[in-house]
Amino acid sequence: MTSSPNLALHVCAIPGDGIGHEVVPAALRVLRALVPDVRVTEARAGFACFEETGSALPEQTLRVIEQADATLFGAVSSPTRPAPGYRSVISVLRQSLGLYANVRPSVSLPIAASRGNLDFVIVRENTEDLYVGQEERFADYAVARRVISVAGSRRIARYACDLARRERRALLTIVHKANILPLTDGLFRDTVREVAAEYPELEVEEMLVDTTALRLVVEPERFAVIVTTNLFGDILSDEAAGLVGGLGLAPSANIGERAAIFEPVHGSAPDIVGRGIANPLAAIRTVEMLLRHLGMAADAEAVRQAVWETLQAGVVTPDLGGTATTTQVTDEVLAHLETTQGY
Ligand code: NAI
Ligand code: MG
Repeated sequence: MTSSPNLALHVCAIPGDGIGHEVVPAALRVLRALVPDVRVTEARAGFACFEETGSALPEQTLRVIEQADATLFGAVSSPTRPAPGYRSVISVLRQSLGLYANVRPSVSLPIAASRGNLDFVIVRENTEDLYVGQEERFADYAVARRVISVAGSRRIARYACDLARRERRALLTIVHKANILPLTDGLFRDTVREVAAEYPELEVEEMLVDTTALRLVVEPERFAVIVTTNLFGDILSDEAAGLVGGLGLAPSANIGERAAIFEPVHGSAPDIVGRGIANPLAAIRTVEMLLRHLGMAADAEAVRQAVWETLQAGVVTPDLGGTATTTQVTDEVLAHLETTQGY
């Protein structure tokens, strides 16, 4: 990554499949409005790319991601029929680029579908756990290997603690299941505690994953930063997205040392593709995360505010009960950006 105030921001854009081709262009309109000299390199990945080129993730795409300051990723489809040679693009990206931190914020929004008074972040370890993909089938049973390392736990703990410090969040909740998995989750819990001890301002607690699932429903406002292993984080962060308006609104980041990829949580939505009604706000909110990650806090704040005002104005797509199109919602966000910034 080569971010420098003297160089134009360089963003790799990967629409992928399905509504990725509708929401990524919308997000790029917002990015270009804020950063007119941004350099965007479009790259290919996904199932359509696999069918046309034989590769779901061409080498060239990996190179562009590594050269760019950050990547905006839409969504990719996974085949419903067996496709020899196809591997899920986003998991290959996470593994091969070492994108070890998956960050998903849950913040209350001014819509009926959102719970009030919420502002927390789930920091999920993104490369280990059951996602190492080592399964074995025997005659009458099958086994999956769950890997938790000291180094992996340490770097995700460091990321979560630094995020808490940067964003002035006072409480770190370590989520695990060490009562049943004392070796793997015990290692994770102990390692995170060790790192967190270097942050005296941070209150640290631990919570079992099942208890966490319950408390996310009953009293989600108590959380500030949750740090957890890969599978638990995958499940809990979808639950958390449901608290604040659902898939059409949920952004996420995959952060590593060599690259950072920002993607809406949703998939390629084949049921609505091509109809112009995909909600672009999840993708637009990934632009907010991208800008914040690159230290452009004022621009990020402008996006946050414009999205908020768009929702307040009720200009929303059918998934949120409205009648607006992808383009109309994006136009509305851009109009609020201009007001905020006084162009
Ligand atoms: P999905 O997220 O694509 O869709 C689930 C439901 O939410 C659908 O009814 C869809 O219309 C709706 N939805 C999703 N995003 C929306 C948006 N921006 N605006 C309005 N409505 C939206 O998940 P699904 O249907 O399980 O998977 C479809 C394809 O996407 C599959 O091939 C799956 O493998 C892939 N997928 C990819 C992901 C990724 O690229 N990270 C994540 C999840 C699924
Ligand atoms: Mg998921």
